[in-house]
Amino acid sequence: MSARTTVKMTVNGKPKRVSVPPMKRLLDVLRDECGLTGTKEGCGEGECGACSVLMNGAAVNACLIPAIHADGARIVTVEGLAKGPRLSALQDAFVTMGGSQCGMCTPGMLVASVALLDETKGRVPTDEEVRVGLAGTLCRCTGYQKIVDAVRAAAGAKTAPKPAPRRRAVAKRAAPRRAATKKRAAAPKRAAAKPRARVKPAAKRAAKRGRR
Ligand code: FES
Ligand code: FES
Repeated sequence: MSARTTVKMTVNGKPKRVSVPPMKRLLDVLRDECGLTGTKEGCGEGECGACSVLMNGAAVNACLIPAIHADGARIVTVEGLAKGPRLSALQDAFVTMGGSQCGMCTPGMLVASVALLDETKGRVPTDEEVRVGLAGTLCRCTGYQKIVDAVRAAAGAKTAPKPAPRRRAVAKRAAPRRAATKKRAAAPKRAAAKPRARVKPAAKRAAKRGRR
């Protein structure tokens, strides 16, 4: 039987006491012992940030923290960000601005964003700062700009993300192309119009002789 140890933590503001093998990962303690399955396992080796939680205010990869190291710590998971049924301003911004993507990356993105906004202390971070702050949290399939916009909006950024001007340019460019397509479509019809009757040279000569 493997040795167990008692770990006392504050999880999302509530005291928690668990008896676990000392090297059990904090990620597993949270999911298995505390029933907080919002924290996800992606890579399991500290690369993807899907398992991010706040430990004493700093974002950490819960897949790399042995339970024994969390003894006495304040842990906040994604479940602890909302105040009861009300989403936090950051969560709201993620929802309204399309920053909430899949269930694997979003919890980690939110937790890492909370840590970043704690550091900037009410100042709106630049795009670059948000990207650096979230660099350890990966999305494998979508994109990051909406997340960056959501984090900045939650910090009070006034500027809504600009509608991509490229779309308008593309629409303008598309018009002449459609016209050209029409012309091209019409061309073969003219070519296919009734071919002119060709008069053979011998028939021409016979016609001339007849006229004389
Ligand atoms: S699961 Fe922890 S960093 Fe990927
Ligand atoms: S990993 Fe979640 S949307 Fe890409």
